[in-house]
Amino acid sequence: MSFAKIAVVGAGVMGQGISQTVASTGTEVLLVDVNEEQLKASLKSLSDEMDREIERWGMTSSEKKAINSRIKTSYILEDTADFPLIIEAIPEDLSVKKGLFSKLDKVCPPETVLVTNTSTLSITEIAAATMRPEQVIGLHFLNPVPKIPLVEIVRGLKTSDETYDKIKDFAQSLGKTPVKVFEYPGYVTTRIIVPLLNEAMHVMMEGVATAADIDNAIKLGYGFNIGPLALADKMGLDVVMDWMENLLNELSDHKYNPCPLLRKMVRAGHLGVKTGQGFFKYDKDGNRILDE
Ligand code: NAI
Repeated sequence: MSFAKIAVVGAGVMGQGISQTVASTGTEVLLVDVNEEQLKASLKSLSDEMDREIERWGMTSSEKKAINSRIKTSYILEDTADFPLIIEAIPEDLSVKKGLFSKLDKVCPPETVLVTNTSTLSITEIAAATMRPEQVIGLHFLNPVPKIPLVEIVRGLKTSDETYDKIKDFAQSLGKTPVKVFEYPGYVTTRIIVPLLNEAMHVMMEGVATAADIDNAIKLGYGFNIGPLALADKMGLDVVMDWMENLLNELSDHKYNPCPLLRKMVRAGHLGVKTGQGFFKYDKDGNRILDE
């Protein structure tokens, strides 16, 4: 099943990628954020990203124009009221997400499907903030959304078969390969990647090798196309730390305890590509500055 129009709530890294991907299939998108400045910055960053894609011959100018024309923005949540599908991509904080789902439940008609892009939180718990838990489901896109062919569809305890089938069809209509996950902290992708990122940070903190050498070792040694530290920079170090804290909280397993170096970097505001400084340095277009 495809939807005539969808609303995306949260215009950060993921909200932008989801909006672009959905709009590229001809669907109208309303991108909502509480922060008006962020909405302007998101539209600019989306446009810059598509320009880079045009330079790489990955997209045409007319495709960019068409995508832009399908994405509208709003900072008023009530504007989502007549959208049949809402995808949430706000920060990874359970109480904040529950607050949003409770509001959406009041704003949207009973048939609206509510989707969360959470990477670690319980769909069942988010769904419990609504009167329609059977119509709440996780759709875990990965960054960068337009390029990553995978999506995890995460069922909460009360998610209905009908909702699952609708969302599976929707994911396929975006050209993504879905994997079905039964809710458990971290699902498949986040749960497996997080200890790798954390260990790479410990290796760096202990002075075993430089950031560049750690990434090269993993890329060349094991055939990864990106090293763990560059990957963490791309994801956002604040986002990665939230995932670790949620997994630690849920599973009480030491391997998810955020590396002290990560905590220090987040406190310093070195959040990776989005701030120009993480384990590596980046220019304003997000390109790595190589001669550190
Ligand atoms: P981000 O920090 O880049 O963006 C979050 C956006 O939500 C901000 O623009 C903020 O202004 C907005 N926001 C905050 N509260 C809001 C509210 N109540 N209503 C509307 N907008 C609100 O975060 P990012 O990286 O886009 O992550 C969003 C979600 O996607 C998180 O749950 C994260 O775990 C998940 N995710 C992130 C991935 C990544 O690589 N960064 C990968 C897969 C999932």
